[in-house]
Amino acid sequence: MRLGIIFAAALAMWAGCGDSEETERSAREEAVVRGKALYVRYGCAVCHGQEGRGDGPVARSMKPPPRDFRDATAFENGRSLGAISETIRVGVINKGVGMPGYPHIPGEERRAIGAYVASLVSRFDG
Ligand code: HEC
Repeated sequence: MRLGIIFAAALAMWAGCGDSEETERSAREEAVVRGKALYVRYGCAVCHGQEGRGDGPVARSMKPPPRDFRDATAFENGRSLGAISETIRVGVINKGVGMPGYPHIPGEERRAIGAYVASLVSRFDG
């Protein structure tokens, strides 16, 4: 319990450091947290799963299946925020059952969702 408090305090101090690299990193972390909420709100989880593992409630009935975002090769159209944002906008329709496009989601929100989705890959890599 006490260790947890010390850890939280250390983390808060670390997060509070002010140089630009830290600011950039925490901006990205904020986008990831926001992106996760948007990911759930816009229904991505129904197909891609709560944790982005490609195991949402309707995933089993889909061919090709929704992608597992822990796998870097899942991003055939690119893994940058801009690329993922574009994927969300236009959807992915190859053959069979695909993913709908979300042109109504504002670009800034699409990029936040992209930050969340991309963060799942780096966790998988190491
Ligand atoms: C109706 C189910 C469904 C929903 C809802 C859905 N997806 Fe997908 N998604 C898929 C499927 C299926 C694929 C793979 C399509 C294929 O292989 O042809 C895919 C592929 C992707 C890819 C990989 C594209 C690439 O570069 O190859 C990304 C990124 C992605 N989805 C993100 C999202 C996000 C973010 C949302 C929410 C805004 C979302 N998806 C909502 C079914 C869905």
